[in-house]
Amino acid sequence: MGIIFNQQNKTFHLQAGNTSYIFQIYREGYLTHLYWGHKIRSNDLSRLIPYGRKSLAPTPDDSDEGFSPDTILQEYPAFGNGDFRTPAYQIQLENGSTITDLRYKSHKITKGKKALKGLPATYVESDTEAETLEIVLYDEVCGLEAHLTYTAFEKYNAIARSVRLINSGKQQLKVLRALSASVDFFSSDYDFLHLPGSWARERHIERKALAVGTQAIESRRGASSHQQNPFAALLSRGANEKEGEVFAFSLVYSGNFIAQVEVDQFKSARFSMGVNPFDFSWILEPSESFQTPELIMVYSNNGLGEMSKTFHRLYRNNLCRGSYKLRTRPILINNWEATYFDFTAEKLENIAETAAELGIELFVLDDGWFGKRNDDNSSLGDWFVNEEKLPMGLEDLANRINKQGLEFGLWFEPEMISENSDLYRVHPDWCIHVPNRNRTKSRHQLILDLTNEEVRKYIVQTVSKVLRSAPIKYVKWDMNRHMTEAGSAYLPKERQRETAHRYILGLYEIMDQITSAFPEILFESCSGGGGRFDPGILYYMPQTWTSDNTDAIERLFIQYGTSLVYAPITMGAHVSAVPNHQLDRITDLSIRGHAAMSGSFGYELDLTKFTSEEKAAVKRQIEQYKEIREIVQFGELYRLKSPFEGNEAAWMFVSEDKKESVVFYFRILAKPNPPLMSILKLNGLDEDKNYEIVGTDKVYGGDELMYAGINIPDLKGDYVSVCWRLRDRE
Ligand code: DGJ
Repeated sequence: MGIIFNQQNKTFHLQAGNTSYIFQIYREGYLTHLYWGHKIRSNDLSRLIPYGRKSLAPTPDDSDEGFSPDTILQEYPAFGNGDFRTPAYQIQLENGSTITDLRYKSHKITKGKKALKGLPATYVESDTEAETLEIVLYDEVCGLEAHLTYTAFEKYNAIARSVRLINSGKQQLKVLRALSASVDFFSSDYDFLHLPGSWARERHIERKALAVGTQAIESRRGASSHQQNPFAALLSRGANEKEGEVFAFSLVYSGNFIAQVEVDQFKSARFSMGVNPFDFSWILEPSESFQTPELIMVYSNNGLGEMSKTFHRLYRNNLCRGSYKLRTRPILINNWEATYFDFTAEKLENIAETAAELGIELFVLDDGWFGKRNDDNSSLGDWFVNEEKLPMGLEDLANRINKQGLEFGLWFEPEMISENSDLYRVHPDWCIHVPNRNRTKSRHQLILDLTNEEVRKYIVQTVSKVLRSAPIKYVKWDMNRHMTEAGSAYLPKERQRETAHRYILGLYEIMDQITSAFPEILFESCSGGGGRFDPGILYYMPQTWTSDNTDAIERLFIQYGTSLVYAPITMGAHVSAVPNHQLDRITDLSIRGHAAMSGSFGYELDLTKFTSEEKAAVKRQIEQYKEIREIVQFGELYRLKSPFEGNEAAWMFVSEDKKESVVFYFRILAKPNPPLMSILKLNGLDEDKNYEIVGTDKVYGGDELMYAGINIPDLKGDYVSVCWRLRDRE
């Protein structure tokens, strides 16, 4: 394992887990990419460098037409010196030109992995877990340096890449584009897979074959967004859950991003990803630097299943932080869909009382507890208690709820400001806006200008004050609109295009300060549901509200798609009332329970309205989740049937020691004449173990369950599900 530099042919060989990533310093300091895939032993792949292709390609050296920057694979390509494909970066000099030519200057290989200043990133706890290569590229004309960083993890098939641009010259430079990484592939015989969606329909799966031209996914919304997730993968044709090659990319960033693949004239593919250059620029004064976010690149030789396992383990162990990182998550009840804004302290206490009787562990007070917030028209920014609704205050309410045996949690939307708020009346220019232009609202609200340190200070102070005022053990951190008129009264005119990225840096600073000051609080992020479900936020907050859509059937799709990158423990999933508030669909409590138990489990309905039979069923669900939550939250996920491919969905969780497992099967609609025998083939079990099907007298071999399958019982009607628990019968 580790990083090898072959001095003779100037080749870098990064070995991460079971993968190799190889590139070489070529000719006058070009970095040419040679290989990424299953681990190989060779430290010399010079034979793979294309040379002598006649294609009218430009040559830096007129006497040698065999070489062109346009006909080699590159590691961090420029534009304007002969490579016509998508560049990884572009810089404007004081003379207005945008040509730079970065060439190899030096490198160093070190143990471990350094943090990225001001940005979330994967980390290691011991230097033995990874090795890092830092390569310095240099442009002699303007003094620009690019430090390309590659970390190879020992245990994972994963490489983390990022770039720091440093102005070591004497003139002002303007960064027009600074992607985190670019990877060239000789072939374009791949499918492009990504996770598009919308509000209430996040992270569905799209897959299509690459074709000549450029395919891109991006966000221009100021957030990673519901519409696209900062994730994309290239799959060998025919690759599926268990087989085939997958090259996956996940950006540790929560703002505007782009991921694109260009297939060129030779049918080679260039994949690149990073902060979206659209409406972006960044001024670099002499000696200043710009740090790109980190891109995690995962290779799998065993399809999407193994890719997901790598992301899940890496993000659970080496991205998420805090005291809840490896702690089981409490079962919660949230009052949002139970009461919306219309509640009293008494109503909340009643819900909490019933919840406590049924075994729920945490009560979350959602929107509407502060300022004069009786609907979504006002009060964001006024983080003091609404005394009309809670006359005895938050502490009193929290104490009462604690007495019932539940912890207390609270909702905030700290990044926002309502026009109708005390804060706005005092600071009308604290919001993101552009002079003399309309301030476009979304959900009647504006966004606070987090580029301004006064604003950041205000948020940290006011939120911290509330958190200190009562025994608060959980925070739901919401963010309910996207950015328009992206400009800042705080930044000078030449830095206006830095607003969106500086906003995210400001957000990270706030989140870092608050989460570090309150290490015992469990933070769950939210953005109109799953509009900012990304690795950047997970670094600060170890779980995310997956979607505002709580319909069990829609959740099968959303949670399946989300699980491609994000572990079940990171997905907030609640049982809600029927008819469902988003879709009006009626489903049984049992399937709602099974869908929600597949993540970090909770309820979001008025339990006081339940009949005693329904309450008894909820109680059983809670007991069941308590028994399986270690497996769901810390086991391995195996996806068995995709709802995107048919009328069923199924997945299972297997404990690390393979002694226990829980399997969920869902059938969406009843169909006539089903197969003679409905079988579900399991995965991830120990072939040599015998598993008892808990609650029955049946015992089957792990081999039998995986290769012959388990019988799906005869199910009646639409929207039905089954859960099996398996236990090693030693
Ligand atoms: C959007 C969230 O996704 C909901 O769960 C809820 O917290 C509302 N905001 C409250 O305004």
